[in-house]
Amino acid sequence: MILVTGGGGFIGSHLVDRLVSKGYSVRVLDNFSSGSIYFLRNSMKTGRVEVVAGDLRDRELIDLVLRDVDVVFHMAANPEVRIYLSPPSSHFDNNIVATYNLLEGIRRSGSVEKLVFASSSTVYGDPSVIPTPEDADLKPISVYGASKLACESLIRAYSLTYGFKAVSLRYANIIGSRLRHGVIYDFIMKLKRDPSVLEVLGDGTQEKSYLYIDDAIDATMVIAEKMGNGYMDINVSNDDWIKVSEIAAIVSRVMGVNPKIIYRPATSDGRGWVGDVKKMLLSNKRLKSYGWRPRYTSREAVERAAKDLVSELL
Ligand SMILES: NC(=O)c1ccc[n+]([C@@H]2O[C@H](COP(=O)([O-])OP(=O)(O)OC[C@H]3O[C@@H](n4cnc5c(N)ncnc54)[C@H](O)[C@@H]3O)[C@@H](O)[C@H]2O)c1
Repeated sequence: MILVTGGGGFIGSHLVDRLVSKGYSVRVLDNFSSGSIYFLRNSMKTGRVEVVAGDLRDRELIDLVLRDVDVVFHMAANPEVRIYLSPPSSHFDNNIVATYNLLEGIRRSGSVEKLVFASSSTVYGDPSVIPTPEDADLKPISVYGASKLACESLIRAYSLTYGFKAVSLRYANIIGSRLRHGVIYDFIMKLKRDPSVLEVLGDGTQEKSYLYIDDAIDATMVIAEKMGNGYMDINVSNDDWIKVSEIAAIVSRVMGVNPKIIYRPATSDGRGWVGDVKKMLLSNKRLKSYGWRPRYTSREAVERAAKDLVSELL
């Protein structure tokens, strides 16, 4: 049995769809604080998905959901990187404490052989090397990034101490249908409210790597199938990046509107918020050594995701 924590969320529900399409039986644990059971409706029709509406902060429940589980995909978290939208306590509880509770459950269960963790590019902070390799300095500049790094550290130590395989996938920006946070979702919701003006957080020159959800799920599956013994970190990033000003133009075009764009830098160097990483492109050499290749560029990914979300949300 495979457990997907956060399986009702954006990445989690796409992962569940893929696992079910490959014939696996999946248990989902999600408190539905941001995901939706609606995202799982197609997979649930197969009868191979069991949904537990519960919280990783509930230690007793974790022993029950880990029963007969040999593989865990740990996707549950508070994924909000903008500090003004989420207090540090929420990242501490839903990311660090939740991961610790899961690891304690895995240790007690003794049946789990593999753990795949959804980490983030934010563990690097402002990188000195771009594309950033996995062995670069880990100096997060957001509480969210720090919480993900703390989770990685715990996972590494538990994996080595208690003898299960584990991998931290450091996702760049993953985008596509069902996404309910981040820049594209933000732009679409703002333009839905008022198509004449678009407020952009930052000076628009922030440049980051975007990966379409299908490419991210391909990467997640390849690594889960081929990961070796012990612990490792793997970046999951596109080959290229795109500026926020270009994303604003693509989303406006897809929505058929021509808004006045207002840039609102939160810092003197043009970041969108304190803790925003301005330049992010990760080296994907390690991931490619497993045979993975992205199908869509960052620009194509943004265009596809904007179309997906416009048809879902408008
Ligand atoms: N989307 C991205 O670009 C991106 C990038 C880097 C890392 N990640 C990571 O990938 C994972 C999935 O992100 P997403 O974008 O799908 O976000 P999401 O919010 O759609 O999914 C997270 C899911 O976890 C659930 N959840 C949160 N706290 C929980 C708790 N205490 N107990 C049980 N369930 C809980 C939510 O209800 C939600 O369904 C997260 O760990 C996130 O930090 C995402």
